[in-house]
Amino acid sequence: MAGGAETKAPSPNVNGKAEILKGNFEPTAIKVEPLTPVVPENGVEKPSEKSRNIVLGRNVHSTCLTITEPEVNDEVTGDKEAQMAGVLARYRKNLMERTKYHLGYPYNLDFDYGALAQLQHFSINNLGDPFIESNYGVHSRQFEVGVLDWFARLWEIEKDEYWGYITNCGTEGNLHGILVGREVFPDGILYASRESHYSVFKAARMYRMECVKVDTLVSGEIDCSDLRPKLLANKDKPAILNVNIGTTVKGAVDDLDVVIQTLEECGFSHDRFYIHCDGALFGLMMPFVKRAPKVSFKKPIGSVSVSGHKFVGCPMPCGVQITRMEHINVLSSNVEYLASRDATIMGSRNGHAPLFLWYTLNRKGYKGFQKDVQKCLRNAHYLKDRLHEAGISAMLNELSSTVVFERPRDEEFVRRWQLACEGNIAHVVVMPNVTIEKLDFFLNELVEKRSTWYQGNVQPPCIAAEIGKANCVCALHK
Ligand SMILES: Cc1ncc(COP(=O)(O)O)c(C=O)c1O
Repeated sequence: MAGGAETKAPSPNVNGKAEILKGNFEPTAIKVEPLTPVVPENGVEKPSEKSRNIVLGRNVHSTCLTITEPEVNDEVTGDKEAQMAGVLARYRKNLMERTKYHLGYPYNLDFDYGALAQLQHFSINNLGDPFIESNYGVHSRQFEVGVLDWFARLWEIEKDEYWGYITNCGTEGNLHGILVGREVFPDGILYASRESHYSVFKAARMYRMECVKVDTLVSGEIDCSDLRPKLLANKDKPAILNVNIGTTVKGAVDDLDVVIQTLEECGFSHDRFYIHCDGALFGLMMPFVKRAPKVSFKKPIGSVSVSGHKFVGCPMPCGVQITRMEHINVLSSNVEYLASRDATIMGSRNGHAPLFLWYTLNRKGYKGFQKDVQKCLRNAHYLKDRLHEAGISAMLNELSSTVVFERPRDEEFVRRWQLACEGNIAHVVVMPNVTIEKLDFFLNELVEKRSTWYQGNVQPPCIAAEIGKANCVCALHK
């Protein structure tokens, strides 16, 4: 599943020796059957071809747009210009079509950034620290800090007490948050629920941290009754916790207050733990959901991250990471070449992303996001209810707009609707651009297809283990 919890993927062997990929891989478009091997005419495979036995994802090489050299002395001819314009026009049409049929990933595709088109002619780069101007003058720090202040207010931390930056994505936020935790507690152990995003486990591998996986409840939420003995078994070492404000697959929200209480009850004083909140999607939705546990720096947390291209609807991947100022000094160094401070993961940083974020936050404001959140939750309930009415197993966590249901049997259908799947389940993430009409269109197609998939002895799968008996309407549980 896109960005899903850590999954075991085949690890290709290179010349039968080194493993390139250990454990995880971006499983966005996993297709299980291997690609047809390319065997040369003489029938003998060269070693390099053997090592390219890629089994994950679809083969982009079969559809890639080759770059050809300009024909006349580096000049692009009118013919080539026209040809390239044609390619781009077809691509645009394809994007429109794929946008129309998208339901599986948590991206808000509803936006209008026409006002920012005038800025695309500039190479805007915020390299270095957002708060310390570098010598490169074509930057957008004034917008970046405005956005950071907005999030600091949302998560209740004073301007002079926080540090943060606009990242390339939610993953970078996780990499940064966990790095800050590791720098604060170099011998700390990382605890994360099994349903945490794979970037959390990637961070553990990159930083060579000891990582303890904690079990989850059927909802996908961290199981604190499993966290407790694991903390007690490692009481001599500080704890670094990843808390999920919305898991990737089931949209489950870990109860931050219960996690903190568990730490305290296990004898971890506030100076012996660090909590990073991974709020990739729900970090921006939760503050507007009644009854939701509050993410706030008034609680003993160290950092919060969110993706900017998810709920906010930025057209390019980006994210926001906020931590406490007191922590950042342990991680940063001055760089003369930049004339700025280096406390970010990346070097060059997208200076356009802050403009898009600033623009949306200004236009929508807290009220606009609140309306969007309410609409998403309402529409998600509608989808879940209609699935149940149609006799399809489905689950929706209380604080979430991620509807989990049985994996459609036909991969073509999965691809058409760009559904994210994991094992026997799939999900639809109801974002602000997902209307009731779109959901009806999808549901009608699904119901029609199911009537052809499930005939005679062929039964829909039982997914009680994944979503609980109460939500499963398979032959055994209905
Ligand atoms: C819970 C969670 N954390 C982190 C990420 C990574 O975010 P990004 O895709 O912005 O890197 C995702 C992505 O789906 C996610 O669901």
